[in-house]
Amino acid sequence: MKLILLGPPGAGKGTQAQRLRDRYGIVQISTGDMLRAEVAAGTPVGKEAKAVMEAGQLVSDDILIRMLGARIEQPDCAKGFILDGFPRTVPQAEALDALFAAKGMSLDAVVELKVDDAALVDRIAGRFTCAKCGTGYHDTFKMPAKSGVCDSCGGAEFSRRADDNRETVGARLEAYHKQTAPILPHYASQGNLKQVDGMADIDEVTKQLFALLG
Ligand code: AP5
Ligand code: MG
Ligand code: ZN
Repeated sequence: MKLILLGPPGAGKGTQAQRLRDRYGIVQISTGDMLRAEVAAGTPVGKEAKAVMEAGQLVSDDILIRMLGARIEQPDCAKGFILDGFPRTVPQAEALDALFAAKGMSLDAVVELKVDDAALVDRIAGRFTCAKCGTGYHDTFKMPAKSGVCDSCGGAEFSRRADDNRETVGARLEAYHKQTAPILPHYASQGNLKQVDGMADIDEVTKQLFALLG
């Protein structure tokens, strides 16, 4: 199965992608996580991306298209994947079409998580993740069952993202509306765009996704 999860920052792409990954046995490809790993490792790409990400803007199409192209060549992608955070611009969507065409692959679905802007700031401001395994949590909406201990791996260290502050969220939302939303008609015209109510609670959104994807 090959899926794209679309939606604004804080929509729940990462949260739901982890659940789809576990259910369908496919990999989650989060371009945001990949870029954060480059930043942490201090690679040339990371050096270029750091300030752009901290300002809530989009990293260049060239870098992302190259990065994604290399990622889906990896053997673990053969069974399928969920794209979380890519494509994010019309040129990225067009490049993905070309990549799929060249490989004779096709997309099973493009799912948009629809969430009101007003809900997103609170979601992002409350978010934290397990430093060891990356499982996502939220101060209000999804605390670990035992305080201070990761449900998935038992880890006790958590981290918060550098771009998760109220000022940067505004820029990220603006980038979404200006640069990413224009790809929705691109997929609607291909006939495979589906929508899910991302305002529902986390388990309800998962249920809707499983129902949609079978
Ligand atoms: P990226 O990492 O992709 O961030 P984003 O799109 O801003 O999305 P988020 O990860 O913030 O949100 P999410 O939808 O995953 O929500 P989550 O599940 O965590 O990108 C970061 C940066 O990298 C970009 O700004 C850009 O600079 C760069 N970049 C990445 N890809 C790029 C590309 N292709 N091109 C150019 N630049 C690129 O949920 C949020 C919180 O809410 C969590 O705490 C969660 O527990 C909670 N939550 C989730 N669902 C619900 C619910 N239904 N109800 C209540 N709470 C919920
Ligand atoms: Mg995410
Ligand atoms: Zn963990």
